[in-house]
Amino acid sequence: MTNLIFFDAEQQVFHLKNQQISYLLAVEDFGLVSHLYFGKQVDSYHGQRKYPRVDRGFSGNLAGVEDRRYSQDTLLREYSMAGEGDYRIPAAKIMQADGSYALNFKFTGFEMFPGKPKLVGLPSAYVEDDIEAETLVITSIDEISKLELATFYTIYRDRPVIARSTQVRNLSTQNSKIHKLASMQVDFPDEAFSVISLPGAHNQERQVQKEAIGYGIKKFSSRRGSTSHQMNNFIALEKGTADEFQGEVFGFNLVYSGNHAFEIEKDQIGQIRLVAGINEEDFSWELLSGETFQSPEVLMVYSDQGLNKMSQTYHDLLTNRVARGNYRNKERDILINNWEATYFDFTEEKLRPLVDTAAEVGIEMFVLDDGWFGERDSDTNSLGDWFADKRKFPNGLNHFADYVHQKGLKFGLWMEPEMISIDSNLYREHPDFLMSYPERIPAPSRSQHLLDLGRKEVRENILTQLSAIFDEGYVDYVKWDMNRSLSEVFSRQLTSDNQGETLHRYILGLYELLETLITKYPAILWEGCSGGGGRFDSGILHYMPQSWTSDDTDAVERLKIQYGTSLVYPPSSFTSHVSAIPNHQTGRNISLNTRGNTAMSSVFGYELDLTTFTAEEKQAVAKQVALYKDIRKVVQFGKFTRLKNPFISNECAWQFISQEQTEVLVFAFKILTQGQEPFSLLKLTDLDPTKHYKTENGTIFGGDELMNLGFYLPQQTEDFSSWMYRFTRID
Ligand code: DGJ
Repeated sequence: MTNLIFFDAEQQVFHLKNQQISYLLAVEDFGLVSHLYFGKQVDSYHGQRKYPRVDRGFSGNLAGVEDRRYSQDTLLREYSMAGEGDYRIPAAKIMQADGSYALNFKFTGFEMFPGKPKLVGLPSAYVEDDIEAETLVITSIDEISKLELATFYTIYRDRPVIARSTQVRNLSTQNSKIHKLASMQVDFPDEAFSVISLPGAHNQERQVQKEAIGYGIKKFSSRRGSTSHQMNNFIALEKGTADEFQGEVFGFNLVYSGNHAFEIEKDQIGQIRLVAGINEEDFSWELLSGETFQSPEVLMVYSDQGLNKMSQTYHDLLTNRVARGNYRNKERDILINNWEATYFDFTEEKLRPLVDTAAEVGIEMFVLDDGWFGERDSDTNSLGDWFADKRKFPNGLNHFADYVHQKGLKFGLWMEPEMISIDSNLYREHPDFLMSYPERIPAPSRSQHLLDLGRKEVRENILTQLSAIFDEGYVDYVKWDMNRSLSEVFSRQLTSDNQGETLHRYILGLYELLETLITKYPAILWEGCSGGGGRFDSGILHYMPQSWTSDDTDAVERLKIQYGTSLVYPPSSFTSHVSAIPNHQTGRNISLNTRGNTAMSSVFGYELDLTTFTAEEKQAVAKQVALYKDIRKVVQFGKFTRLKNPFISNECAWQFISQEQTEVLVFAFKILTQGQEPFSLLKLTDLDPTKHYKTENGTIFGGDELMNLGFYLPQQTEDFSSWMYRFTRID
């Protein structure tokens, strides 16, 4: 019995719906599966979207079908294949044993059931109770090749979300080769869409880009073996004049950490096709007889109230149904990280005063960053040697961790387990673990190389080394870093024909290793990192509930980075630190107040040498720390809304409302001063118009006043000013 998914046998239409969204698909003539609708909920469907029959030149017809008005090249479809006469971007490309790409999938059946199946070996959104969601599986078969295609759709009961993924199963006795298997395809009828993407660079992650969709093909992708700084694995389609607060928006986020591609094509008659999944470049997979290949999952979100509502849907879903573990809903500790304080230049003795000062101001965790292992004084060596450097920790790492614990702080440790330095014991013992092309000198990046995590023996070696540390029980937190893109993608365990599997096997190996570690050490808080935010995605979030957002710690540059990140990812999943001035990345001087306000807008910490602070400065830090302890529940688990966009103005603002709706926090930033500065009105949102809200100094406003009238931000007297406002609902 299902009550979110309905099948109308007469019309041959499937309708997935909840209170907010509808998704409609149909079994068309001759067994093709067509797309009818995705958007705001409709109660019933009476056939008005049945695809019109029109004869269009140069759009051919199905084999054996005489009707020239019916073409696979124009139909809105659920999933398309290369080689079948649909000239738009295919969702899949599979080569048969005879070398052809011929495939004609015809609908064979369906299944619908409560709940949501797990994706074997891959991260995905989940349910805690089968009542939360229902799943539809549509199967089609190509009778000649005996390949079976299954497209999965899960609709959540109380969320405007559909999760989609695809499987292909080889039922023949011969092997096939998958060259592309997208997670999903959505075909929209002719509509005026813009696309929002999150391009960037190291130190400039997730900058918001918006462009109109014109004719032709546009691809947003990564070929770096990981999600990448350069293009996050998310896009949104915005209809017409939609903006942060109003209009229709469709979000698509891939739950995967490797190469990805989001391809958009506006076809000859203005229809729009979106195909998303693993990037087909550098990918192939031999599908042996009897085997199944599972694609990663795409989380599709619909919003009828602009980008903010889309983001809030993602925030709730990713926090509560993608992230896992003890820390999923737990307030995160305020940490101090020694990276920008010392870089590689430290010893236990030198670090102790930093720990003491951190304890003095109320910081809760000390994170020992890069440089504690092997013989590492620079980034040129020792990756792979996961044992303490005796020169820096003569009594072992546990001795220092004990000191940190005695001071009342938790102890966190940086690691980069996917890497190997040529100058390392690991390389000297196992040169073949390094991923490289045979007989060629491997190309370094940051003087380091990748381990081939697709290989079991490599994963086992790393697991043994890490377990030796974690078994001692003194590590409370791990920062899991990854500081280069993959290159020379070649695996010694695969044949020359199957090298196209290397990248995906790497990611599967990484997920397996992470799954083992988080299961074995559930008390550890895991933080992802990739030279800042180079692998910031919901796949990683399934294992690690937070990630380092960017190596750029400049509080003003961070506004844009955090703004872009928040399009998809919840503030509880990204971390931000107050760092030194002049800032190490930009040389900019920004007040402690503004550095604090930016960093306090997510999971908060410090990354500077507090021992150099005056008593007065330490007091200011202690005040910030105390404040964050007071507000962190609202920041990390409240409802987040973007109010002012730094990409289009000199200002930035956002607000948080507590789950109980009683606490409201607003952070507002002005970037540069200007002559004759215009006034800036700030209007809040989502308050109860019938209730009253009190400021910290006792002034009372109606919710309707704060939302409709708003208030003026102060005039700025220096660059990079910011303000935090707190309101408490009083009735
Ligand atoms: C890159 C990270 O993003 C930094 O925070 C720091 O951990 C360095 N790696 C250390 O090598």
